[in-house]
Amino acid sequence: MRTLIKHALALTEPKSGLVLKGWVRTRRDSKGFSFLELNDGSCLSGLQVVVDAGIPGSADLHRLTTGASTVVEGNLVASPAAGQKWELRATRLELVGEADPAYPLQKKGHTLEFLRTIAHLRPRSNLFGAVFRTRSRLAYAVHQFFQERDFVYVHTPIITASDCEGAGEMFRVTTLKGNLDENPAADFFGKPAYLTVSGQLEGETFACALSNIYTFGPTFRAENSNTARHAAEFWMIEPEMAFCDLQGDMDLGEEFVKAMAQFTLDHCQEDLAFFGKFVDKGVQERLRFVVERPFQRVPYTEAIGILQRSGHSFEYPVDYGLNLQSEHERYLTEQHFKSPVTVFNYPREIKPFYMRLNDDAKTVAAMDVLVPGIGEIIGGAQREERLDHLRENMRSHKLREEDYWWYTDLRRFGTVPHAGFGLGFERLLMFLTGVSNIRDVVPFARTPGNAEF
Ligand code: 4AD
Ligand code: MG
Repeated sequence: MRTLIKHALALTEPKSGLVLKGWVRTRRDSKGFSFLELNDGSCLSGLQVVVDAGIPGSADLHRLTTGASTVVEGNLVASPAAGQKWELRATRLELVGEADPAYPLQKKGHTLEFLRTIAHLRPRSNLFGAVFRTRSRLAYAVHQFFQERDFVYVHTPIITASDCEGAGEMFRVTTLKGNLDENPAADFFGKPAYLTVSGQLEGETFACALSNIYTFGPTFRAENSNTARHAAEFWMIEPEMAFCDLQGDMDLGEEFVKAMAQFTLDHCQEDLAFFGKFVDKGVQERLRFVVERPFQRVPYTEAIGILQRSGHSFEYPVDYGLNLQSEHERYLTEQHFKSPVTVFNYPREIKPFYMRLNDDAKTVAAMDVLVPGIGEIIGGAQREERLDHLRENMRSHKLREEDYWWYTDLRRFGTVPHAGFGLGFERLLMFLTGVSNIRDVVPFARTPGNAEF
């Protein structure tokens, strides 16, 4: 494999005959030599290359403008310049691909909105390089967390016929032309099919066989909400544990978020420092806080009381039986608790059919983890493992039991208490990097009216 700039910068001794390849960020010409700043995306830092006039290939130097690609061979030597350990004294230069003068990343300081319109080029900017390296490392950290704890990774289907969340925000998958409802049986799967909103139901079947499982994959929601924290396509992590109750579920959620914060502090230092400098001044301190302090836990009913007594005027009403809106979630975590907080035991009417009814017969064993800056990052629950209660829930949610026959079977054949949650990977990334719009932590965001690239 070729030497990446990250490897070169990590060397402890000078080295001759290095070959490095990348894109030119800037070029400065002096009398008799030029400086190139070369970046290959392997790390935030670029490498300063000193090109003396007359070396092989230097006749092409004027064509090495910002954005052009090049191969440089040379010797890695201690740099006299401040702030960098090494520089490369080029012995040979090769132009690979010129960049048209229209290259849109000429200057620093483009707005995030503008950079979204060039999503094919923005990974070459400092910010987006850092975001997508961090995304990659955290994807690895997710697997590491669960694999180390003997959770089995399950690939749940992307195409499904069941609406897990019952919210009806699903994208239809069809080969039919014309009126889709005229003869659904003639459709490809013999019935209406959709892109999944959650792998949970299928995940439960595997937990009821392999004990502890997790999924990690793309998830789709046709919510027409153009907010900074909703995407039509996002990645969800869904662990599910057999022989586990709500308490164990909340414990895992907290342990997981803490582990991701610790991993970012330990393994994404250079990029995290960049976020701390240019995106969110408090990000490192926040991550340390998350790692060190236990999350707060509060029942829904108490959370409603806190909000009602707060004296704060909210746009949406606060009352028992109503959903917590983003502004309420953020008030709880940012103003009141000043910490991540897990809200649990929600009214049964506002939660999906699969959640376990509590002994008060009013609330279900649901839990949401709320974090500062974002609000809900995790939604989970202990599942209803009692067949009669589950049937009753399905009836009250107007679901047809025959559509979920395989799901109810789990309650018929060796049912067990079990629990799990879903965590939106993009929201986790927003929380850990300080990037405030979900569109900027997805390589190619899918939002209402936008499927470019
Ligand atoms: O709270 P949700 O809807 O829960 C479920 O889907 C459960 N079936 C999960 C489970 O128990 N296995 O979604 C879970 C998380 C949310 O907390 C949020 O982080 C994320 O998924 N999420 C979204 N992220 C980005 N864009 C959207 N439109 C999202 N909708 C949910
Ligand atoms: Mg939720």
